Amino acid sequence: MILYGGGDHALAVWEILQLLKIPCEGFFDDGEGPFTLPAALHLGPYSPEVLPSTPVLLAMTDNTVRRNLSLRVRHPIAPPVVHPRAYVSASASVGPGAVVLAGAVVHSRARVGAHTIVNTGAVVEHFAEVGSFCHLSPGVIVGCRSRVGDACFVGSGAIIVPKAAVGEGCVIGAGSLVLKDLPPFTRAWGHPARPQSENPSP
Ligand SMILES: CC(C)(COP(=O)(O)OP(=O)(O)OC[C@H]1O[C@@H](n2cnc3c(N)ncnc32)[C@H](O)[C@@H]1OP(=O)(O)O)[C@@H](O)C(=O)NCCC(=O)NCCS
Repeated sequence: MILYGGGDHALAVWEILQLLKIPCEGFFDDGEGPFTLPAALHLGPYSPEVLPSTPVLLAMTDNTVRRNLSLRVRHPIAPPVVHPRAYVSASASVGPGAVVLAGAVVHSRARVGAHTIVNTGAVVEHFAEVGSFCHLSPGVIVGCRSRVGDACFVGSGAIIVPKAAVGEGCVIGAGSLVLKDLPPFTRAWGHPARPQSENPSP
């Protein structure tokens, strides 16, 4: 596997690969560093000609960046990476390029889309659906049968109550309590969460 990104999140993913004994050939990063990953692993900026049949995982937390890069990357998409101390139910599905970090739970029949990050200790309860290119920050709870659209950012410790629907491209502040449905591209926070402004669509 090749990681795309050499920052903090990439380091977390790289450590999971080591635990799982999945070889990592290195990382692409279009910047000049300094990198959090060992500099010796830097394969340079992205190039479709470098190890073209090796799967690439987009390892940065910015949802928009992951979404844009997914349109550009020519390598195969890596299968999901799941920390050995996360729990993913056998009846759940986790899409390609997604990452499930330590202590996270993806419960029965839940669905997590491609390139989504289920960060440390986040919980996606049974039958919940989380779209592609989302970031569920540490400690988020997505209640049972709730839905989170594509490219949503959910801040640390936020709770989305069961059966609530969060539209595409929403930003939910850390510690928020989402009691009601949120339309697409809403920025909301608070306890209970209230819409604050629109999040520009990509
Ligand atoms: C929601 C968020 C994205 C808003 O960021 P922002 O647009 O830069 O907003 P600001 O910091 O300018 O705050 C604007 C106002 O909203 C309030 N506010 C911001 N986030 C809030 C939150 N989560 N809960 C309650 N109030 C919040 C601020 O206190 C401020 O109030 P004021 O105008 O009365 O001073 C950000 O505050 C947040 O919660 N980020 C989550 C970070 C996180 O969990 N990261 C995990 C990384 S792994």
